[in-house]
Amino acid sequence: MQTRRATMRDVIEMQHCNLRCLPENYNMRYFLYHYVSWPQMLNVVEDAHGHVVGYVLAKMDDEDEPGKTPHGHITSLAVLRTHRKLGIAANTMKATMRETDAVHKGEYVSLHVRRTNEAALHLYQESLKFRCAEVDKGYYVDNEDAFHMKHFFRPKGDERMHYVNAEGKLEKCGREGTGPNIGGGMGAKTLWRTATHDDPVAPASAVGSKSSKRSAPGRR
Ligand SMILES: CC(C)(COP(=O)(O)OP(=O)(O)OC[C@H]1O[C@@H](n2cnc3c(N)ncnc32)[C@H](O)[C@@H]1OP(=O)(O)O)[C@@H](O)C(=O)NCCC(=O)NCCS
Repeated sequence: MQTRRATMRDVIEMQHCNLRCLPENYNMRYFLYHYVSWPQMLNVVEDAHGHVVGYVLAKMDDEDEPGKTPHGHITSLAVLRTHRKLGIAANTMKATMRETDAVHKGEYVSLHVRRTNEAALHLYQESLKFRCAEVDKGYYVDNEDAFHMKHFFRPKGDERMHYVNAEGKLEKCGREGTGPNIGGGMGAKTLWRTATHDDPVAPASAVGSKSSKRSAPGRR
């Protein structure tokens, strides 16, 4: 299996994967809007037969807004049930985060996750070092709360972030709090190499070596 940038031909299979895995679904126009606007931020994993078994659909927010901080936003992430716990989500997310940093110069990546989605919360907090910025009450159509999470590439230390503990409660991060620090810096190990002129961003590694929405339409 291989993690790679999505192509136009993958978009239909990405949508199928989304429909099979998540209640938050999007029309084809919305997938294409992402693909045409930020092609570097869409990544897939394909199986031996070339079928998409996992994807990340992401976009840039606030990139043309004066005074606002450009940042990436993960619109959707899913891995087919048959291919879970193989490092696919972590690898595709790292590929998208790397491109957000290197290509789009985003300061951070954000996303929303359901309060009860333990698998995704583990992936974001423990594997990818996201931390919770706030709780968006009743964010989803069924009124479930969302944790609004962020991963800063080069944290300055003044970000007010929280760690969601095993009871689902928020603990302050950093010196003031008890929760672990935020990712990207502040002692956390770097999740990827940054590209240089002579060494362009390496393609995402093959799956198996685990080295290591706010704007989403249709959510209501
Ligand atoms: C969440 C999801 C994307 C994870 O995909 P995956 O490919 O199985 O995840 P990975 O194999 O990369 O695992 C990453 C980490 O999460 C952990 N993890 C994966 N599934 C888990 C589960 N069910 N419970 C607890 N931890 C889990 C892994 O053990 C791994 O931890 P580690 O880095 O400490 O070893 C997948 O379960 C999925 O598609 N769920 C339905 C869609 C969804 O919830 N998307 C996210 C919406 S915000």
